[in-house]
Amino acid sequence: MHNAADTTPSTATPHGSPLPALESVPGWFFQLDQEAFHHLLGAQSAAGRTGDLLELGCYLGRSTVLLGHHLQPGEQMTVCDLFDSDAGDEENAAEMASSYRSTLTRRSFEANYLAFHPQLPVIHQAPTSALADGRVRAGSCRFVHVDASHLYEHVAGDIEVARRALAEDGVVVLDDYRSEHTPGVSAAVWEAVFTTGLRPAVLTPMKFYGTWGDPRAVQRMMLERDWQTAGFTVDQETIAGRHVVRLNHRPTPRTVPPRRLITDLLPPLLTRAIRKARRASGA
Ligand SMILES: C[S@@+](CC[C@H](N)C(=O)[O-])C[C@H]1O[C@@H](n2cnc3c(N)ncnc32)[C@H](O)[C@@H]1O
Repeated sequence: MHNAADTTPSTATPHGSPLPALESVPGWFFQLDQEAFHHLLGAQSAAGRTGDLLELGCYLGRSTVLLGHHLQPGEQMTVCDLFDSDAGDEENAAEMASSYRSTLTRRSFEANYLAFHPQLPVIHQAPTSALADGRVRAGSCRFVHVDASHLYEHVAGDIEVARRALAEDGVVVLDDYRSEHTPGVSAAVWEAVFTTGLRPAVLTPMKFYGTWGDPRAVQRMMLERDWQTAGFTVDQETIAGRHVVRLNHRPTPRTVPPRRLITDLLPPLLTRAIRKARRASGA
């Protein structure tokens, strides 16, 4: 989700989308991550990597529809969401009530998905903790998207579900790992990095892309695309000895009011004199 105040799902991506019709589905899945999913899933298939797809938290299907677009013959997609059933605990129920209850039903998710794809994924309408029983085959997935509850205990459990479900070189994407209103997600994500061997590979403002396999392979795949020419920034850095790639939108140049621009370009003494004269005249 975007930010603390933003509980209204977006129906628009600011600069377009790899699947423009996706904009008709409300959700919190925005252009940069749409493009990153699109590229990474396509690159996995092009490299001959097969495996199932898993999504925890699909809301009305915006991200699920894009995942479904990349399903190859023989692959299966599984999703898990509470939809219109009750949450198991009070905090999760409060989160559901404030953000999703008024708009979310399983029927609307299914209708949205079927507007794009002929067949529904395997759906578990349950808390994501239900998947801890091993109903997703261990080592079967090439890509897992975790975007359900924001509570630390739940996310820590979801990360364990992802770890078990992923094949060795599979990719897990963790939503809201750094948002102001989701400190529990941040805690669970970095705990997994420091205690379970989860390796960060790529970071966007909204999502953490990691693997328990080789993060360089994920980074190589992601950087097969020329992101700069497409209007994004690419930065590389090291976090506690772990090399990561950061992707972001290129900032749009700030427009400076003309009067401010003129005084900024003048020598400092003259600028000070003009400011003083303006203050004196009350301008
Ligand atoms: C941020 S939304 C998902 C957004 C969606 N992936 C998208 O891109 O638009 C979070 C979803 O997680 C679900 N959810 C919240 N807590 C859950 C839990 N404990 N178990 C399963 N689903 C949960 C909510 O019903 C909601 O649909």
